[in-house]
Amino acid sequence: VVLVVDFGAQYAQLIARRVREVNVYSEIVPHNMPVREMLAKEPAAIILSGGPASVYVDGAPSVDPALFNAGVPVMGICYGFQAMAQALGGQVAHTGASEYGRTSLCITSPGQLLSRIPHTISVWMSHGDSVSRAPEGFSTLARTAGAPVAAFENVERKLVGVQWHPEVQHSESGQTVLEHFLFDIAGCRPDWNASSIVGDQIAQIRGQVGDRRVICGLSGGVDSAVAAALVQRAVGDQLTCVFVDHGLLRQGEAEQVKHDFVEATGADLVVADESQRFLDALAGVTDPEAKRKIIGREFIRTFEDVAKRLNADQTIDFLVQGTLYPDVVESGGGEGAANIKSHHNVGGLPDDLQFSLVEPLRTLFKDEVRTVGLELGLPEDIVWRQPFPGPGLGIRVIGEVTKERLEVLRTADAITREEMSAAGLDRKVWQCPVVLLGDVHSVGVQGDGRTYGSPIVLRPVTSEDAMTADWARIPYDVLEKISTRITNACPQINRVVLDITSKPPATIEWE
Ligand code: XMP
Repeated sequence: VVLVVDFGAQYAQLIARRVREVNVYSEIVPHNMPVREMLAKEPAAIILSGGPASVYVDGAPSVDPALFNAGVPVMGICYGFQAMAQALGGQVAHTGASEYGRTSLCITSPGQLLSRIPHTISVWMSHGDSVSRAPEGFSTLARTAGAPVAAFENVERKLVGVQWHPEVQHSESGQTVLEHFLFDIAGCRPDWNASSIVGDQIAQIRGQVGDRRVICGLSGGVDSAVAAALVQRAVGDQLTCVFVDHGLLRQGEAEQVKHDFVEATGADLVVADESQRFLDALAGVTDPEAKRKIIGREFIRTFEDVAKRLNADQTIDFLVQGTLYPDVVESGGGEGAANIKSHHNVGGLPDDLQFSLVEPLRTLFKDEVRTVGLELGLPEDIVWRQPFPGPGLGIRVIGEVTKERLEVLRTADAITREEMSAAGLDRKVWQCPVVLLGDVHSVGVQGDGRTYGSPIVLRPVTSEDAMTADWARIPYDVLEKISTRITNACPQINRVVLDITSKPPATIEWE
């Protein structure tokens, strides 16, 4: 295993992902884990991630120098590089020359880490402080205008560091730098892939669950389907799947889920129609976080009710959730990460949860989950389904959720999906939320009369893992068809607008 020490979650996730992409298993550990615990995991290498802190700030996370004396190869990145320099006796200075974004890097002496890379490359930087002197025994490999020591290495001790972010796509040769460290310096072997977790996960689930019973909430998305299929492989009949129809689904979705999932897995599926319960709980609520928390809570209450109903001779102790890595990170699960929004199955869980959670996908990224799904024999229809959030249309009807407004959004969404599919765009876009605005109204002219209606927003995005996203360039003729059909079909809508914001600064969903 390669350990990625987390100094600021968003960065650590990405590094872990890049390491796995070259078929080396990686795990993220918090920066405050004692070195002896890290070493107990017998890591083949350790990578110190970047992070938002400055080494000068009071309470800034530091690195125990013992980490560098254990003979384990270590690479420091950005903040990790500076913390490493400081721990090894080098010097970090406030140079006042911050560098953010694309920066030109000059490789002055490539050493082993930067060998076979062009002398000048463009890299992604994000730092205020700089290493001004490399620790003794280390050679300086590169510089930028603002960073006199932008990379260093000590080949005998297998310790290296870079000031930039080789893990982001905008850094040229970034993946090559990581590979040089992993393969040439640390001697890792590329023998892991996402499907190799299947066996481990099955064993782990069996260990956790024993002969007790498990309930799984299916949402129709790939995550819960893969999680359920894994648990079914592990404990078979002990699993009951529950599909909660919370009334916030898209047109035809409930029928499709029932059909596809049962067909593919033969699993025992209970359908709970709880739309009234969710609508009642959401009545009058407009705040996005409050809506998310209510939906999260009602999901769990529904599972608890179903579990009680099913509880013939043995209580159900476990709840399976298809929680992914990005959900955990963005709900503030990673140490030092900000809470952006409470994903319904992480930050939205009630405190008095009566189940223990089984979350076999908690460390995986979406593309890895798809690989696991195919490995488990799930059909492509399920595995390649576009993401749809658990809180469903509840977070796409901006403001108060009512039956009438849901109905309008459902129609607009169905038209959009139909036209996107007809244009062959399903695999080209990551997903396309359709959003009904709340407080905003606009004047229109429909059927010779003035109207004062609601706008619909189309939010097509491309993405690799939902952590970052770009707006998708949908052909104008497709947009035109969608717009005309929506305004014809929904008298309440007199305007269709396109969201052309990337993530960041926006998020994918509007709430
Ligand atoms: P954001 O809006 O955070 O969305 O950029 C990132 C991805 O996550 C989906 N999403 C959710 N999925 N429960 C889910 O299962 C949630 O509460 C939730 N909120 C957002 C969103 O559709 C996108 O794919």
